Amino acid sequence: MKKYLGILLILTIFNSCQTAAKKENNLQEKYRPSYHFSPKKGWMNDPNGMVYLDGTYHLFFQHNPDTTVWGPMHWGHATSTDLIHWEEHPIALFPDSLGTIFSGSAVIDKDNTAGFGKGALVAIFTHHNPKIEEAKTGLHQYQSIAYSLDKGKSWTKYVGNPVLPNPGIWDFRDPKVMWHAGSGQWVMTLATKQSITFYGSKNLKEWTRLSEFGNEVGAHGGVWECPDLLRFETPEGDKWVLLVSINPGGPNTGSATQYFVGDFDGTTFRSDQKDIRWMDYGPDNYAGVTFSNTENRQILMGWMSNWAYANTVPASSWRSGMTIPRTLSLQKVSERWLLVSTPITDELGAWDTQEKGGVQVKNGTDDWSKYIGEANGAFELSFALDKVATFDLVLSNGKGDELVLGFDEATNQFFVDRSKAGDANFSPTFIKRTVAPRILDAETLTYRLLVDRNSVEIFADGGLSNLSSLFFVEQPFDLLMFRSSTTVNVRDLRVKVIK
Ligand code: FRU
Repeated sequence: MKKYLGILLILTIFNSCQTAAKKENNLQEKYRPSYHFSPKKGWMNDPNGMVYLDGTYHLFFQHNPDTTVWGPMHWGHATSTDLIHWEEHPIALFPDSLGTIFSGSAVIDKDNTAGFGKGALVAIFTHHNPKIEEAKTGLHQYQSIAYSLDKGKSWTKYVGNPVLPNPGIWDFRDPKVMWHAGSGQWVMTLATKQSITFYGSKNLKEWTRLSEFGNEVGAHGGVWECPDLLRFETPEGDKWVLLVSINPGGPNTGSATQYFVGDFDGTTFRSDQKDIRWMDYGPDNYAGVTFSNTENRQILMGWMSNWAYANTVPASSWRSGMTIPRTLSLQKVSERWLLVSTPITDELGAWDTQEKGGVQVKNGTDDWSKYIGEANGAFELSFALDKVATFDLVLSNGKGDELVLGFDEATNQFFVDRSKAGDANFSPTFIKRTVAPRILDAETLTYRLLVDRNSVEIFADGGLSNLSSLFFVEQPFDLLMFRSSTTVNVRDLRVKVIK
């Protein structure tokens, strides 16, 4: 009898330990996205060194492995073959005597221009030296390189670092390097305070200043960071787009990414754009850059957060995720070339269209909960309206949390209102209602959204008006209502539950 009691006691203790561990795990994982990349533990910000190599996408990222707030930066590393399922690997680059490892890029040196080996993976990044920063010399950031001969598994920092010393500019960082075939050189696009400076090199080790852009144009509400220079083929010939992240000074406060359309001749970027253009109006898509070595495809991924509150968002043992990777293209709208973003989820299999199709919503609400009930807060939805009309999509759960998104005809704006979507009061700068102007002047409207537990990414009008936004609910949304005060025909309603 005694023996049985003993076993019973051990089993009870074991069970309660397991339940406690499960509870702890649930708590830790409650904000974890299911199909967006997030680090296993610790802090993450910008995507870095994104490169496609032999069928694998490499994502490096700003990482503080030991705590969930920004600190001494490392480059974390993850890989994927489909841009959705990621496997995290050991840290790629650690801080050293030259400083911590800030943002940068990676290229494949096919012709061995640097002499590290044919096909070497070369990372070009900013060394940030906090010791020099304390001395207020303004020389604390400089560019360095490292190489890998085993597809990113192990890295060797170049002994001649830094390869681009600081000329006396306080903010001197985030090198994005590409091969410019026309001029037969590597071109580095670098953020220099509130402008972009281009540098050229034949070997990734010696850099010459080429030109500067941006002092007189664009948004200047904050420091310029994480630039990228992209080439697009259009019927009018090549067009170049310069992406520039800016913090603060975004359209919905805090961090955001603006872009300029123009030409690049290997030395100078020229743009006659007068207006300010935002790649994504939402508050939570920052520091986005594209993968290198993807031929003519431009695939961008951003950090799904905002410096206005990134360090204080509800979190447990890890903090921050990336946006869904997006394919970028250019579209001409009323004489302007504009950037269009579309999520790569098309590659994740077909839309599930059963039961859906067209519905007419007559001045009232239509319950769409049945389409997402099984989704556990992870789904994609798209539809078209046969006329431009005010509408709301209301996502809610049994706890009374509510996220309202939609379009307001009076202001001609798309919006996301997260004021009642769970915890929204952890920071006064967590802006609650965010908007994106409608840019397209068409009589019909298309709307596509991706929800992943605690984030929504909206691609309206085919990806011309975009809005990415975080929210923090403890229970996934499983109810969805469409609301409109006029009669509208909803066409091509499609839902994809993302497992
Ligand atoms: C952008 C940024 C970069 C910098 C990095 C530091 O979010 O501020 O300019 O390299 O983050 O973590």
